[in-house]
Amino acid sequence: MDREELRTALEFYRDIGIETLYKRQPVPKPIQLKTPMIIPELPSIAPQGDTLLQISQDIGDCKRCGLCEGRNKIVFGSGNERSSLVFVGEAPGADEDAQGFPFVGRAGQLLTQMIEGTASKEGIAITRADVYICNVVKCRPPENRAPQPDEMEICGQFLFRQLMAIRPKAICALGSTAAKAILGTKEGVTKLRGDWHKWHDIPVIVTFHPSYLLRPYNQNAKRDAWEDLKKVLHFVYD
Ligand code: URA
Repeated sequence: MDREELRTALEFYRDIGIETLYKRQPVPKPIQLKTPMIIPELPSIAPQGDTLLQISQDIGDCKRCGLCEGRNKIVFGSGNERSSLVFVGEAPGADEDAQGFPFVGRAGQLLTQMIEGTASKEGIAITRADVYICNVVKCRPPENRAPQPDEMEICGQFLFRQLMAIRPKAICALGSTAAKAILGTKEGVTKLRGDWHKWHDIPVIVTFHPSYLLRPYNQNAKRDAWEDLKKVLHFVYD
């Protein structure tokens, strides 16, 4: 199995909720980060009157975790700041890291198609610009690996503030990392999707991450994702 096949297989297992794999061969040494890990005190509640601008300023030139070592741009979020619907992905990829905006690569194109295609089929007059899109972590993890628990915890504070500041009518968690960060669950997407969940009184739908849907063996999941999208769009915009 070459590196790319291995990555695809690991991503597949992660997407269906399997997080621990036992390897017979010795595991390669983790990459050593130059910056020592500093876990700062972060507020567990959002400040009164918090705004996205304030949150972005508080993030500043963030060095709170090791992800700052490899990033080019911090990817804060984009879209309508007063949106009734927020999509939460996992972490920026290479395109997002280069441009500074979430979901602008291949997975992003699919997400745009899913939002706009479903909305137009269902007679709902919205485009991607009408929703807000962000990620659990704001910096690209090396080699697109999944964010680690400490990274999710540190950056999750900012996601918490973003969601609190926007207070959407519903949240759509894209993939298991977003579901874990928002719902605090270890369940995979297959188990979580189809039902409504709650984040501080705000209804949450979990669906497959667009990157997962791009893989050729996951075509059946596309149908499910479209159903999830339909459900959340009607709930928010009817
Ligand atoms: N995948 C994500 O989870 N987020 C992005 O912004 C891009 C790809």
